[in-house]
Formats: sequence, C-alpha cells, structure tokens
Amino acid sequence: MSNEKFYVTTPIYYANDVPHLGHAYTTIAADVVARYQRMMLGGDNVYFLTGTDEHGAKIAQAAEDNKLKPQEFVDKIAADFQMIWDRLSISNNDFIRTTEDRHKEIVVDFLNKLKEAKTPLGNPVIYEGEYEGLYCVGCETFKSEYDLVDGKCPDHNKEPEPYKEKNWFLRLSDYGDKLKELIESGEFKVLPEIRANEILGLINIGLKDVAISRQTLKWGIPLPFDKDQVTYVWVDALSNYISALGGPESDLYKKFWPCDIHLMAKDILKFHATIWPAILLALDLPLPKEVFAHGFFTVDGQKMSKTIGNVIAPDELVDQYGTDATRYLLLSQFGFGTDGDFSKERLTNIYNAALANELGNLVSRVLAMTDKNFAGRVPKYNVGYDKFFEFDLQTDWNRYDVYMKSYQFDQALNVIWENVRRCNAYIDKEKPWELANGHKDILADVLYNLLETIRQTAIMSRPFMPEISERILMQLGFEAEKELAKSIEDLRKWASLPLDQKITKGEVLFPRLENENNKDK
Ligand code: MSP
Repeated sequence: MSNEKFYVTTPIYYANDVPHLGHAYTTIAADVVARYQRMMLGGDNVYFLTGTDEHGAKIAQAAEDNKLKPQEFVDKIAADFQMIWDRLSISNNDFIRTTEDRHKEIVVDFLNKLKEAKTPLGNPVIYEGEYEGLYCVGCETFKSEYDLVDGKCPDHNKEPEPYKEKNWFLRLSDYGDKLKELIESGEFKVLPEIRANEILGLINIGLKDVAISRQTLKWGIPLPFDKDQVTYVWVDALSNYISALGGPESDLYKKFWPCDIHLMAKDILKFHATIWPAILLALDLPLPKEVFAHGFFTVDGQKMSKTIGNVIAPDELVDQYGTDATRYLLLSQFGFGTDGDFSKERLTNIYNAALANELGNLVSRVLAMTDKNFAGRVPKYNVGYDKFFEFDLQTDWNRYDVYMKSYQFDQALNVIWENVRRCNAYIDKEKPWELANGHKDILADVLYNLLETIRQTAIMSRPFMPEISERILMQLGFEAEKELAKSIEDLRKWASLPLDQKITKGEVLFPRLENENNKDK
C-alpha cells in the first residue's frame, strides 16, 4: 500500500437547528471521497472529519428560544447530527465539537500565537480597535450596504443589527498579495475555477480587516489576553480542522496536515479562502492543499426554508428510500460544483428507473439464470468470447478515477451505470434463455461476463453505496469483508471471480416503490 495520505473535511455545521438535506449533501460527498481514498490508499492513510460549530450569537439565540442553557441545547443538536450520520453510513474518523476542551485549548494557543505574530508587511497580525457597522446573526458576519437587498441580508431575509463595539481585529488587509500569489500559482487551490476567480476578485478590491472577537456576547471562547471578549465564531470554528487532529504538535497532525481538501458550499468559501489561510500564514503553518465549494440546491425550485416549509430532513429520505439509495439520489442528480434542484416527485422515478430496474433487476436476473442453468455456481469461462467487457472496464476504471479525483460524482456514477446498461443490453442481445437450449458453452461465457462485470460494478459502487456493494458481493458468493480487504489492484483484475463459486440469491436490492405523486394521474 502507498505511503500517501488523504485528509478530507466537511464544514462543522451550526448546532442551532436539526440537520437538513443541505448538511447531508456535503457530508455524503465527503464520505464518498473518504471511502474512495481508503480503497486507494488503505484505511490507515485516510482521515475524515466532520463536527458541529457550537458557539456564537446564533446558537445562543437558538438556545434561548428553546429555553435551554446553550450547552444543553448544543449537546442535543450534536447528538442529532451524529445520529443521522450513522443512519447515512457516514464513516467519519472523528466528530469535533467546538465546546470540547480539546478544541478550546488549541484555539487559545492559536490566539496567543497570533497576538505575537507579524504580517508579511511587518505589522502586528492583531490589533485593538472599534467596529461600527452591521452584523447578520444568521450569517455570523459583518455586512456592508453592498451585501444587502432592500436593506436585508438576502440569505436570511432579515435586516442586520447595528453593531458598535471595541474589538480585536485580524489584519487581513496585509494578506491580499500573498494569498493572490498562492492561489494563482496553484499552491493553494480554490475550486471549481469560477470560485477562484470570485476570491481573486475580492482580493483585487482589497481585503478588509476582520473583527476576531465580540464584546457583548458571552457564549464563546474568552480571548486569553482580554477576558472581556470572546473569540469571533469563525476564528473559533475554522481552527477545528487542526484542533481535531490534536494541534500542530500531535502525531495525527504530522501525518495528515496539510489537509487535502476542505469541502463546503459556496456560501462559506470566503471564510475558508481568506480568513483561514491568513490565520495559517500568520501561525506559520502550511495551508490546506485545496478548498472546493460545491453549488447550492433548491427543493422543487425553491430555496429550502422553514418559512416556505420545504425543508427536507435527511431522515425522511432514508425512511423512504433506504440509506444507500438516498446517497445515490443526492449525488447523481447534478454536477457537484453547480447549483441544482431536487424534485421529490422525480426522486421516486429515478429510484425506480436506475436502482430498482437497471441495477437491481440486472443482479437478480443474472443470479437467477446462473442458479437455473449452472446449479448456482459460477460457470466456466472460455476466455476469448466477448472480450469487450474486459477492455471496456479497463477504460472505465480510468475514467472513474479521473472523475472521483476531481469530485465529479455524477459522472463517476454515470460510468457505473454505463456498465450496468451494457450488461442489460448484452442480455437482450444474447438472449441467455435461448442459449440455454443447446448452447450451454456460450451461455457459460455470457453469464461469466455478466457476473464478473457485476462484481466490478459492486467495487466501483462501494464509495457511494457501501451496503449494497457488500450485498452484491455476498450474493456473488464472497465473504464481503475478506474480499474487500484485498488490494485495489487485485479487486480490479478481470476474471477474479472464482469459477465454480457458489452464488446465493439474496433479497431484492431495491424494492420498487409506488410513486405517491403519480397515483391519481
Ligand atoms: N458553521 C459554519 C461552518 C463552519 S466551518 C469552519 C456553517 N454552518 S452551516 O450549518 O450553515 O452549514 C453550511 C454548509 O451546509 C454549506 O457550506 C454546505 O456545506 C451545507 N449546505 C447547507 N444548505 C445547503 C444547500 N441548500 N445546498 C448545498 N449545501 C448546503 O456555515
């Protein structure tokens, strides 16, 4: 196995409300990345982090609205997040909460170091000043008039609050040139490219210093050098990516930092592509290799919002479709970097078409034919017949790797489904039920091609649908865990499905669903 390592993170989500589909979207994507990298590099060389962001005005407000102490409130929400990640088969190595001591200690250490640090222009990195302006609690950020539409924050449809406080500031304005150089040289990658251009645009206008503390707020980490102030929630939160590893002195840090990819949506890219790298530069720590901002999705054409009442809880989809199908449905509908829309009605149609009909039926048909014609054993393969399966798979693995490494999940899934469709078309063309009468040698080859392609399809599907992938392998007669412990090179080798292996027809992989929306039509 390789010595390379991979560290992937999701944003730490605000613990002000229960998890929704937006959070699940990024977390499933990160899980797919982590599972793919584990397959490539071995489990010990991959680290996958998620967690909750538990300080700040927004959380304090939500706790008050729920008549709970902030800590009690966030304990409850953090448990909700962990529960849904379990249901969605999220394989995170750690779950960081910003109210944990291990996190607070690192934040305090960072703040002390920032207090002593100098910017590339030789100025103190942080300084005391007064901030007067507007603050949107929903975004936990300062707003200028240009950010507002009709005087309101467009994301939260609320007027920001007037704000005047003595604060400590981070001299972000001194970091523009350095950041520009790092982004343009590709040393610090901001992806997709359109997002890099946005950040470069901001830098060109001129980065403004940001307040890194709050005076009137109590729910946060006190500044070590000014106990009347608490740390600004973004400085607190961004540090999680290192605090979770145990700080810059820890073995995990030494193995996994710099982070290979911070995943998030475009709403919070600015913080990850300006404030975070500036803090790291000031601390003399390496920057993450890449930050990737995916698009935002709407539900039935509208932004998900409590007021509209169209917020989808991830639980709802898991109840309806099951874990693996939910994962598939979320990542297959549109490109990861672009905005998209989910229509609930369409989801059931896609489930029935792609999962129940194309993949599910293929597996059950091929196993049934093997059962019937070869007493449930993998038939002997007369090498040479219909070699195109083998050749196509070789190119498909290459294409799949390119898509997986560039986070084009919908395209990687497409490669998998091309295989599935190739198999279904092959069955229609070869008509195994006719070959069964007098052409058993050809039938053996046909079925072997199909069974082996299904095996490889199960391996390809594994990052997306871990449970289904194991079930397919078990139906093909493998002890899934033992089989999956093999190296990726072995798993991808053509014809490694052992001849004569006893297959076991299992339960239907994806039971067909009635589309409620089509019922009366
Ligand atoms: N707490 C901060 C992040 C701190 S990271 C150091 C925060 N939390 S959040 O709960 O608001 O989560 C925002 C993230 O949730 C987005 O960046 C994205 O990953 C995910 N999404 C929330 N709604 C979404 C959509 N409608 N569409 C796509 N992603 C969505 O910001």
